[in-house]
Amino acid sequence: MRFTIAIDGPAAAGKGTISKAVAAHYGFAHLDTGLLYRAVGARTLDGTDPIEAAKALTADDLDAGNLRTPEVAQAASKVAVIGEVRAALVDFQRAFARRAGGAVLDGRDIGTVICPNADAKLFVTASADVRAERRYLELVGKGTEIDRETVLADVKERDARDMERAEAPLKPADDAVLIDTSDLAIQEAIAAAVAAIDKLS
Ligand code: C5P
Repeated sequence: MRFTIAIDGPAAAGKGTISKAVAAHYGFAHLDTGLLYRAVGARTLDGTDPIEAAKALTADDLDAGNLRTPEVAQAASKVAVIGEVRAALVDFQRAFARRAGGAVLDGRDIGTVICPNADAKLFVTASADVRAERRYLELVGKGTEIDRETVLADVKERDARDMERAEAPLKPADDAVLIDTSDLAIQEAIAAAVAAIDKLS
Protein backbone atom coordinates (compact mmCIF):
# COMPACT_ATOMS: atom_id res chain seq x y z
CA MET A 1 0.00 0.00 0.00
CA ARG A 2 1.21 3.53 -0.74
CA PHE A 3 0.22 6.17 1.79
CA THR A 4 2.17 9.36 2.35
CA ILE A 5 1.95 11.51 5.46
CA ALA A 6 3.46 15.03 5.34
CA ILE A 7 4.28 16.68 8.68
CA ASP A 8 5.58 20.26 8.59
CA GLY A 9 6.20 22.95 11.15
CA PRO A 10 8.80 25.22 12.77
CA ALA A 11 11.82 24.10 14.80
CA ALA A 12 11.19 22.16 18.03
CA ALA A 13 7.39 22.09 17.69
CA GLY A 14 7.38 18.34 18.31
CA LYS A 15 7.35 17.26 14.63
CA GLY A 16 10.21 14.82 15.02
CA THR A 17 8.76 12.97 18.01
CA ILE A 18 5.26 12.96 16.51
CA SER A 19 6.54 11.76 13.12
CA LYS A 20 8.47 8.87 14.66
CA ALA A 21 5.48 7.82 16.75
CA VAL A 22 3.06 8.13 13.81
CA ALA A 23 5.38 6.06 11.61
CA ALA A 24 5.61 3.38 14.31
CA HIS A 25 1.83 3.44 14.81
CA TYR A 26 1.08 2.71 11.12
CA GLY A 27 4.22 0.66 10.45
CA PHE A 28 5.48 3.22 7.89
CA ALA A 29 9.02 4.34 7.12
CA HIS A 30 10.07 7.79 8.39
CA LEU A 31 12.32 10.43 6.84
CA ASP A 32 13.40 13.47 8.86
CA THR A 33 14.10 15.79 5.91
CA GLY A 34 15.80 18.33 8.19
CA LEU A 35 18.69 15.86 8.28
CA LEU A 36 19.27 16.41 4.54
CA TYR A 37 19.72 20.14 5.09
CA ARG A 38 21.77 19.53 8.24
CA ALA A 39 24.09 17.15 6.35
CA VAL A 40 24.60 19.77 3.61
CA GLY A 41 25.04 22.53 6.23
CA ALA A 42 27.63 20.44 8.07
CA ARG A 43 29.65 20.03 4.85
CA THR A 44 29.70 23.81 4.33
CA LEU A 45 31.31 24.19 7.77
CA ASP A 46 34.23 22.21 6.27
CA GLY A 47 34.34 24.72 3.40
CA THR A 48 32.48 22.60 0.82
CA ASP A 49 30.25 24.40 -1.70
CA PRO A 50 26.59 23.87 -0.61
CA ILE A 51 25.27 23.05 -4.09
CA GLU A 52 28.04 20.49 -4.67
CA ALA A 53 27.38 19.03 -1.20
CA ALA A 54 23.64 18.73 -1.94
CA LYS A 55 24.27 17.04 -5.31
CA ALA A 56 26.67 14.53 -3.74
CA LEU A 57 24.47 13.70 -0.71
CA THR A 58 23.78 10.02 -0.02
CA ALA A 59 21.61 8.24 2.58
CA ASP A 60 24.78 7.37 4.53
CA ASP A 61 25.45 11.08 5.18
CA LEU A 62 22.26 11.24 7.26
CA ASP A 63 23.75 8.95 9.91
CA ALA A 64 26.60 11.31 10.82
CA GLY A 65 26.61 11.73 14.58
CA ASN A 66 27.17 15.47 14.79
CA LEU A 67 24.14 16.82 12.87
CA ARG A 68 21.98 17.80 15.86
CA THR A 69 24.04 20.73 17.11
CA PRO A 70 22.86 24.39 17.11
CA GLU A 71 25.80 25.29 14.85
CA VAL A 72 24.75 22.74 12.22
CA ALA A 73 21.09 23.82 12.56
CA GLN A 74 22.06 27.39 11.68
CA ALA A 75 24.21 26.22 8.76
CA ALA A 76 21.27 24.07 7.58
CA SER A 77 18.83 26.97 7.56
CA LYS A 78 21.35 29.07 5.60
CA VAL A 79 21.86 26.47 2.85
CA ALA A 80 18.07 25.87 2.81
CA VAL A 81 17.45 29.29 1.21
CA ILE A 82 19.46 28.28 -1.89
CA GLY A 83 17.14 27.12 -4.69
CA GLU A 84 19.76 24.80 -6.27
CA VAL A 85 20.33 23.08 -2.91
CA ARG A 86 16.59 22.46 -2.48
CA ALA A 87 16.25 21.26 -6.09
CA ALA A 88 19.10 18.76 -5.63
CA LEU A 89 17.29 17.19 -2.66
CA VAL A 90 13.82 16.83 -4.23
CA ASP A 91 14.24 13.43 -5.97
CA PHE A 92 15.58 11.71 -2.85
CA GLN A 93 12.58 12.92 -0.82
CA ARG A 94 9.98 12.06 -3.48
CA ALA A 95 11.44 8.59 -4.01
CA PHE A 96 11.20 8.02 -0.26
CA ALA A 97 7.59 9.26 -0.22
CA ARG A 98 6.61 6.80 -2.97
CA ARG A 99 8.06 3.73 -1.29
CA ALA A 100 5.77 0.78 -0.86
CA GLY A 101 4.52 0.26 2.66
CA GLY A 102 3.77 3.89 3.49
CA ALA A 103 5.97 6.85 4.41
CA VAL A 104 6.03 9.72 6.87
CA LEU A 105 8.16 12.73 5.91
CA ASP A 106 8.66 15.67 8.22
CA GLY A 107 10.14 19.06 7.38
CA ARG A 108 9.13 22.54 6.28
CA ASP A 109 7.80 22.12 2.73
CA ILE A 110 6.61 18.53 2.51
CA GLY A 111 2.89 19.30 2.21
CA THR A 112 3.43 22.36 -0.01
CA VAL A 113 6.27 21.40 -2.40
CA ILE A 114 7.68 17.88 -1.98
CA CYS A 115 4.40 15.94 -1.64
CA PRO A 116 1.53 18.27 -2.55
CA ASN A 117 -0.64 15.17 -3.10
CA ALA A 118 0.15 13.56 0.27
CA ASP A 119 -2.73 11.52 1.68
CA ALA A 120 -2.53 13.32 5.03
CA LYS A 121 -0.90 16.65 5.90
CA LEU A 122 -0.28 17.99 9.37
CA PHE A 123 1.20 21.34 10.41
CA VAL A 124 2.60 21.04 13.92
CA THR A 125 3.31 24.25 15.75
CA ALA A 126 3.78 25.74 19.26
CA SER A 127 4.67 29.14 20.67
CA ALA A 128 8.30 30.24 20.25
CA ASP A 129 8.81 30.24 24.04
CA VAL A 130 7.54 26.69 24.44
CA ARG A 131 9.62 25.46 21.51
CA ALA A 132 12.77 27.15 22.80
CA GLU A 133 12.28 25.66 26.27
CA ARG A 134 11.88 22.16 24.79
CA ARG A 135 14.98 22.55 22.62
CA TYR A 136 16.91 23.97 25.59
CA LEU A 137 16.04 20.95 27.76
CA GLU A 138 16.92 18.59 24.91
CA LEU A 139 20.34 20.21 24.39
CA VAL A 140 21.13 20.40 28.10
CA GLY A 141 20.04 16.75 28.42
CA LYS A 142 22.70 15.88 25.83
CA GLY A 143 25.33 17.77 27.80
CA THR A 144 25.46 20.87 25.56
CA GLU A 145 26.47 24.03 27.42
CA ILE A 146 24.03 26.71 26.31
CA ASP A 147 21.62 29.22 27.89
CA ARG A 148 17.89 29.73 27.33
CA GLU A 149 18.26 33.14 25.67
CA THR A 150 20.67 31.76 23.07
CA VAL A 151 18.32 28.90 22.24
CA LEU A 152 15.29 31.24 21.93
CA ALA A 153 17.25 33.63 19.68
CA ASP A 154 18.43 30.70 17.55
CA VAL A 155 14.91 29.28 17.14
CA LYS A 156 13.47 32.71 16.22
CA GLU A 157 16.25 33.44 13.75
CA ARG A 158 15.77 30.09 12.00
CA ASP A 159 11.96 30.48 11.91
CA ALA A 160 12.28 33.93 10.33
CA ARG A 161 14.73 32.66 7.72
CA ASP A 162 12.52 29.62 6.97
CA MET A 163 9.32 31.68 6.67
CA GLU A 164 10.73 34.59 4.69
CA ARG A 165 12.75 32.74 2.05
CA ALA A 166 11.54 32.89 -1.56
CA GLU A 167 11.96 29.14 -2.25
CA ALA A 168 9.54 26.80 -0.48
CA PRO A 169 8.95 28.98 2.59
CA LEU A 170 7.64 27.43 5.79
CA LYS A 171 3.85 27.69 5.76
CA PRO A 172 0.92 25.32 6.23
CA ALA A 173 -0.50 23.72 3.07
CA ASP A 174 -4.08 24.88 2.44
CA ASP A 175 -5.34 21.40 3.28
CA ALA A 176 -3.11 20.75 6.32
CA VAL A 177 -4.59 19.96 9.74
CA LEU A 178 -3.08 22.33 12.32
CA ILE A 179 -1.92 20.89 15.66
CA ASP A 180 -0.72 23.37 18.28
CA THR A 181 1.32 21.44 20.83
CA SER A 182 1.97 24.40 23.20
CA ASP A 183 -0.36 23.01 25.87
CA LEU A 184 -0.18 19.32 24.98
CA ALA A 185 1.88 16.59 26.59
CA ILE A 186 3.73 14.55 23.98
CA GLN A 187 1.32 11.59 24.23
CA GLU A 188 -1.62 13.97 23.71
CA ALA A 189 0.07 15.49 20.67
CA ILE A 190 0.68 12.01 19.19
CA ALA A 191 -2.94 11.02 19.85
CA ALA A 192 -4.15 14.21 18.14
CA ALA A 193 -1.96 13.47 15.11
CA VAL A 194 -3.16 9.85 14.82
CA ALA A 195 -6.81 10.94 15.20
CA ALA A 196 -6.38 13.54 12.43
CA ILE A 197 -4.74 11.02 10.09
CA ASP A 198 -7.37 8.32 10.78
CA LYS A 199 -10.04 10.82 9.82
CA LEU A 200 -8.32 11.53 6.49
CA SER A 201 -7.65 7.92 5.51
O1 C5P B 1 13.97 20.18 11.11
P1 C5P B 1 15.38 20.68 11.40
O2 C5P B 1 15.42 21.66 12.52
O3 C5P B 1 16.35 19.57 11.57
O4 C5P B 1 15.81 21.44 10.06
C1 C5P B 1 17.00 22.18 9.97
C2 C5P B 1 16.81 23.28 8.93
O5 C5P B 1 16.68 22.69 7.64
C3 C5P B 1 15.56 24.14 9.10
O6 C5P B 1 15.76 25.27 9.92
C4 C5P B 1 15.23 24.55 7.68
O7 C5P B 1 15.93 25.72 7.31
C5 C5P B 1 15.77 23.43 6.83
N1 C5P B 1 14.72 22.56 6.30
C6 C5P B 1 14.06 22.95 5.16
N2 C5P B 1 13.13 22.14 4.58
C7 C5P B 1 12.84 20.95 5.12
C8 C5P B 1 13.49 20.53 6.32
C9 C5P B 1 14.41 21.37 6.90
O8 C5P B 1 14.28 24.05 4.66
N3 C5P B 1 11.96 20.15 4.53
